[in-house]
Amino acid sequence: MTDDRPTRDHEDPDDKVLTSVLGPQLVARLFGLLRATRTYDQTNQTVRDQLREAVTLIEDVMDDQVTLVAMGQCFYLNGARVRVEASKIPLFNALSEEFEQRRLGGVRFLEGVRIDELGTFIRLMVDHADAESGARLGETVAGAGVVHIVPITLDELETAQDAHVESGEDAGLDERSQARRSYRQALQGTKAAILRTARTGRPAIRRAKRVVQPIVDSAMKNDFSIVGMTAIKNHDEYTYAHSVNVSILSIAIGQTLGLPRGALANLGVGALLHDVGKTTIPVEVLAKPGRLSEEDWALMRRHPLEGAKVVTHMPGLSSQMLDVLGVCMYHHARRDGSGYPKIARTEPPPMARIAAIADCYDAMTTHRAYRSRPFTGYEALGTLLGEERGRFDSAVLWALVQTVGLYPAGTLMQTETGYLVLSLNNDRNDLRRPHCRVLAYPDGTHALDGQPVIWEPMPRHETVARVVSPEEFEVEIDRLLAA
Ligand SMILES: [Fe+2]
Ligand SMILES: [Fe+2]
Repeated sequence: MTDDRPTRDHEDPDDKVLTSVLGPQLVARLFGLLRATRTYDQTNQTVRDQLREAVTLIEDVMDDQVTLVAMGQCFYLNGARVRVEASKIPLFNALSEEFEQRRLGGVRFLEGVRIDELGTFIRLMVDHADAESGARLGETVAGAGVVHIVPITLDELETAQDAHVESGEDAGLDERSQARRSYRQALQGTKAAILRTARTGRPAIRRAKRVVQPIVDSAMKNDFSIVGMTAIKNHDEYTYAHSVNVSILSIAIGQTLGLPRGALANLGVGALLHDVGKTTIPVEVLAKPGRLSEEDWALMRRHPLEGAKVVTHMPGLSSQMLDVLGVCMYHHARRDGSGYPKIARTEPPPMARIAAIADCYDAMTTHRAYRSRPFTGYEALGTLLGEERGRFDSAVLWALVQTVGLYPAGTLMQTETGYLVLSLNNDRNDLRRPHCRVLAYPDGTHALDGQPVIWEPMPRHETVARVVSPEEFEVEIDRLLAA
């Protein structure tokens, strides 16, 4: 039950607000300001009010930046085409002419834009009314101390588009390097999304979706190379790495269970933000070494509810909001009634059941102050499928095994013929034979120097004889996984 339709076959409500409401308002507001500035001084109250409203509008659209691009008679706001009602066509045409005569391709507003900056920018735009002076607009604007508004010339816009087409996306990179790069990008995007959510108290949905989309696209193409990256735990910023990992694992599990593309995207966003409620917990509690006191625990146990509260600030009521809310609210609820918050129902929503397992798996395999070492992926699977089994959805547990394999990335193993190998990633065609790096040969000589010997996957004539615990063979697993 997979769904291969293109991502944008039905518009999501978030984009709809952007293209049908905020976009047209911004175009109208900017045109109104240009006109008013020609007639009135900017100390005029009406002009001040219009500037204030325009900045509020820009803040509403803000997604680390707001880019309004004019192409032909159309406007694009953060890449989405702004809808135009028939009655507004003259106004859209008039603003695109204003851009055209200055050879302006668009304008970029950066986070933190102020009313006085917009006022100065509009005034300078009025003063630079032809192609020749339009080319100097950027310089003049910067010279006037406007740092959060950047005009884009038509030439810059065209160059940027060419570069985009020519970049040819990662051609020539091997699968692991590509996965490493995708992971790094996802990590950066996640950090930005979580920090922004924490700062504004509203979920940074567009940014979260930008992180999740490439992962969903890969999963739909049955490319799970990024899953192995979740086993690398030497990140400085654990909080963000944890969120990325839970999102990647949830999407992969969801794909295995046959969720359609739209649902995977919602699940991915929910998983990315599942712990966002923790931003309301004081850092002293979060960073406390050793065991937590009862009061600290009471605070910690509130994070699903706090996260759900943040999610309710999403604009409009949509299925996306309900999915994300469900994941935040119920990722610690357990089907046997344990966990928190205590809920009357015994079955948390399906997406929360998926995120719950991805969350536990990632947390168990991560170093914690109260454990001498983290569980290996293999040990974590053993626990989840063993003593913890009754607390989780068994179909999701099955899908987790399909996702990480029987010997998840980071597992040390000895083969029947005597090789010592490290698992790098699951191979979905044969869960018993992962992709591996050879660490030692059957005669005991090690293979750590020089060009790494990689099995993609473990050859068919090999089988795993036993799993080797990290204590038995001193090796920096994280470094080898990241290599
Ligand atoms: Fe949590
Ligand atoms: Fe978590």
